[in-house]
Amino acid sequence: MDGQATSRLVFSHFDDSHIPGLFEMENDPEVMRYINNCPPVPWKGYTEKIHAWFDQLAKNDPRLTYWAAHERLTGEFVGWFHLRPNARYDNHVELGYRLRRNFWGRGYATEGSRALLDRAFNELELRYVMAQTLEGNLASRRVMEKAGMQFECSFVYPPELLPFWDEAQRRAVRYAKRANPVASCGEGEPPGEPFARHGGSAGASPSQSRKHLSPFHRHQRQPLPPPNDLAVLFPNPHQGADGG
Ligand SMILES: CC(C)(COP(=O)(O)OP(=O)(O)OC[C@H]1O[C@@H](n2cnc3c(N)ncnc32)[C@H](O)[C@@H]1OP(=O)(O)O)[C@@H](O)C(=O)NCCC(=O)NCCS
Repeated sequence: MDGQATSRLVFSHFDDSHIPGLFEMENDPEVMRYINNCPPVPWKGYTEKIHAWFDQLAKNDPRLTYWAAHERLTGEFVGWFHLRPNARYDNHVELGYRLRRNFWGRGYATEGSRALLDRAFNELELRYVMAQTLEGNLASRRVMEKAGMQFECSFVYPPELLPFWDEAQRRAVRYAKRANPVASCGEGEPPGEPFARHGGSAGASPSQSRKHLSPFHRHQRQPLPPPNDLAVLFPNPHQGADGG
């Protein structure tokens, strides 16, 4: 993925040049609103913390990790994207993103997500990629929709993950894209070869307007499909430390 790009974004691994941008994002209440409500992160010790994260990332299989995204035109650090094993559902891969506020509203999250989904299905031959966000994070949900993912279910993050948040604040949604979409709700993906080749692609995203975003689809619960066997595909899938 390193160096691989979309028309406007270039992806790379992280290095020290990203630390100020990472720090800025973690201290921006708007960026962190739906992640941890932005308790201030002190600069003291931040470099060490990020170096520990870099060390952790270095242990990842390079195909399932986090990437720094840069604007092709200016070279500026835009934020990050990840394809990583999901923390709750081992063996399922999760898409995530976090962008610096200056770069919001330009379609970058959608563009990067489409590229990663395309890679997940067409190069890594995954069958299923999920993305999760708090229910109220409508911008993130819209990105998922525009990237061709579909609503799967609502759930509540456990209190230990988001201490001090009440249940309503911990309500979240899962979207996903499947290599072979199921025809109707309630049917799992048929059993088959775990990494059977498929003819799908990331596909075009629906061009829906904001009013078509459906925040409540409580009755459309999609079961998780049989997992990709990440231990086979990616011998050392390492859990990322940070959510989108
Ligand atoms: C979520 C985030 C990645 C979106 O990045 P982005 O580059 O601005 O996204 P895009 O421009 O590709 O698409 C955003 C879409 O959401 C829509 N949107 C933005 N704010 C919205 C809101 N409050 N309500 C509904 N839709 C909204 C935009 O209009 C756009 O849709 P459109 O193209 O149909 O108009 C960015 O806001 C971010 O980094 N947020 C903080 C971190 C975060 O929440 N990450 C996700 C955690 S799961």
